[in-house]
Amino acid sequence: MLRQALRVASRRCYSYKSVRRPNLAATSAPKAEKVKEQSSKEQRPESTTENDKGSLAKQLRAKILATGPISVAEYMREVLTNPQAGYYMARDVFGREGDFITSPEISQIFGELVGVWLVSEWRKMGSPSPFQLVELGPGRGTLARDVLKVLSKFKLGAELSIHMVEVSPFLSKIQAQRFCYTHETLPEDSQLPHYQTGTTASGTKAFWHRRLEDVPQGFSLILAHEFFDALPVHKLQWLDGQWQEVLIDVASKEEDQPGFRYVLSRSQTPVSRVFQPIPGEKRSCLEYSLETERQVGLLAERIERDGGIALIMDYGHFGEKTDTFRAFKNHALHDPLVDPGSADLTADVDFKLIRHAAEKRGSIHCCGPVEQGLFLQRMQGEARLEQLLAHALPENQQIIRSGYQMLTDAAQMGTRFKFLAMFPGVVAPHLEKFPVVGFS
Ligand SMILES: C[S@@+](CC[C@H](N)C(=O)[O-])C[C@H]1O[C@@H](n2cnc3c(N)ncnc32)[C@H](O)[C@@H]1O
Repeated sequence: MLRQALRVASRRCYSYKSVRRPNLAATSAPKAEKVKEQSSKEQRPESTTENDKGSLAKQLRAKILATGPISVAEYMREVLTNPQAGYYMARDVFGREGDFITSPEISQIFGELVGVWLVSEWRKMGSPSPFQLVELGPGRGTLARDVLKVLSKFKLGAELSIHMVEVSPFLSKIQAQRFCYTHETLPEDSQLPHYQTGTTASGTKAFWHRRLEDVPQGFSLILAHEFFDALPVHKLQWLDGQWQEVLIDVASKEEDQPGFRYVLSRSQTPVSRVFQPIPGEKRSCLEYSLETERQVGLLAERIERDGGIALIMDYGHFGEKTDTFRAFKNHALHDPLVDPGSADLTADVDFKLIRHAAEKRGSIHCCGPVEQGLFLQRMQGEARLEQLLAHALPENQQIIRSGYQMLTDAAQMGTRFKFLAMFPGVVAPHLEKFPVVGFS
């Protein structure tokens, strides 16, 4: 058990997406788990070749030439999730050999404390059973694996099922390998709301869905870590008394001059016309994620109707930032308009929009956002760190310590990353009496 923990901890020592990229030449990080890396390469389909990335640029170019400039949101959606050549669709983009690293991959303490938080709040709500563990955009499945480890330690005695919402067929397999004993992909024509199933070593059933709408009804503990930053954003500008949209056009109509550029829409677009700023909005230039608003609305409806808790963890702001759309490739900033499909596209999450969308859509009680460093400290992260260090081999202690420091340090991930929790409105008086741990 300890060896396993140390192996996990010792490979989580790269840098992370939004704050600082690692100097790969300088890191002494050991290679990621050999078997998994090999299998991910073996499974990598032909569709991730340079040709495909080139063809994505060609497809986007042909579309723009045929129908005119496209929104940044449409560009982002195509680049990240185009079924043939989308960035997430057919490769492992995480870790030293990928483009970025995320908190659950840096230290096991992250997933463990999230697991303890879920158990504590679930118990406060009367330990409802059965319940579902739902994760949006699970990446490599590391957070789910660490949370499941905690749930099994607590021996909850409840009926549990696991539901992953993942658009990438390739990543869904990596996730299943992380925490399932067996898994199988369903035939394309199965007509079921899930496309992959699995069973954990302890017999818990897991299901993979393409959309949150396809997750069955029922009391749910819902996690979203670095999911909302991958959802498309529209870029809007207040000009001449109305909102106008920044679009993406081809750089030149000449065949031999490829590339893309930003242009301002000549007239209002459907989104700039319907956009309703949150009362008090002062920015004249902002990023608006219609898809975030839609997904948060679905979460709010579900939590109000079926009961549940959502924990949203991401880098972001509270409605003050104006221009955060960017790309990452090989752990460095990259021009988002160059080589579409070869780099991750992202924008800081607007937590003010999330809170507003949740509270507008249903009777929802939101907590936060609070900074990640504060949340983890309040969850007794130091105590867990000391425990791990007490049992660690001397050569692993520095890696374990620096991983936790990276997650909590204000100059690293401690303040830019934030936590926001959603509860059914009816439990608000109960939560006044028994405050939500980590948020106060
Ligand atoms: C930045 S990664 C975060 C991964 C993981 N949560 C972590 O923190 O390590 C984004 C994840 O969301 C998935 N994803 C992106 N857009 C999605 C969408 N529209 N629906 C479902 N999953 C999506 C990606 O395939 C990937 O698993």
